[in-house]
Amino acid sequence: AAKKLQGPFVPKFEDYQQVYNSIAARLEERDDYDDGSFGPVLLRLAWHCSGTYDKETGTGGSNGATMRFTPEGSHGANAGLQSARDFLDPIKEQYPWITYSDLWILGGVCAIQEMQGPKIPYRPGRSDRDVSFCTPDGRLPDASKDQKHVRAIFGRMGFDDKEMVALSGAHALGRCHEDRSGYSGPWTFSPTTLTNDYYKLLLEEKWAWKKWTGPKQFEDVKTKTLMMLPTDMALVQDKGFRPYVEKYANDNEAFFKDFSDGVVRLFELGVPFTVAEDARWTFKSSFD
Ligand code: HEM
Repeated sequence: AAKKLQGPFVPKFEDYQQVYNSIAARLEERDDYDDGSFGPVLLRLAWHCSGTYDKETGTGGSNGATMRFTPEGSHGANAGLQSARDFLDPIKEQYPWITYSDLWILGGVCAIQEMQGPKIPYRPGRSDRDVSFCTPDGRLPDASKDQKHVRAIFGRMGFDDKEMVALSGAHALGRCHEDRSGYSGPWTFSPTTLTNDYYKLLLEEKWAWKKWTGPKQFEDVKTKTLMMLPTDMALVQDKGFRPYVEKYANDNEAFFKDFSDGVVRLFELGVPFTVAEDARWTFKSSFD
């Protein structure tokens, strides 16, 4: 019999595309969640892994998957993300060669593309690290705050005003849960499809404080079914942010371009890649 060369398994584009396909199939199969999709919470998991990055110290970011451990997993901002990690566990069992940290980010990439968002180029290279790499609590944004806080948090990651507004468009997706953040409701009428509706609604609807005993949030006056967080409203109240809200409300293509660029940067913060930037992969979506 022909002798097969033995060596360590080095996964290639096709292998990662298979993982992508399995996540996409599981998203299709498991419609028993919120608005019928785990997509939004998968994206939130990928963002909360990445958004701990601090450019001064180089700590945090998606390398490490340290949310597996108690201090970080139980930070208030990460409430509810266990459901996203549980969703991905069978995929990890099926493809044991992928690291949790590459898998969780691939989950975010897949969620965006499967919810009809733009392509999110990807490269692997994250390794799982131990509990000592958990970041301190308080690195993720606090929704009750204003534009100064938004700039401080995203500035610490190295983002500018345009990128902050573009990334915030993710709130077209998903909803707030009283038993997680304390806030309640979706931002848009189509929370499982990525569109620029978040910006349109911010500009076109009339918003007022919701009358309730929960944390201060806005509701749309007309239907009282949609919500905005104080940090969302800061984007139209602030003179530096507002022009980008207007641009994205008028131009979905510009939003998709800047959102994709911002997400690629977010998902790669602090990762010591060996693969070059121009060798990123673009995965085929299930509907391509
Ligand atoms: C959900 C805050 C930026 C993606 C939420 C929730 C809060 C929040 C309070 C509700 C969580 C819950 O109750 O389940 C913020 C603040 C931000 C910010 C204060 C910045 C100032 C982002 C960014 C992204 C993102 C940059 C992605 C690029 C999401 C998604 C959900 C969500 C997809 C829905 C999750 C679900 O449906 O379970 N965010 N967020 N957010 N956030 Fe953000």
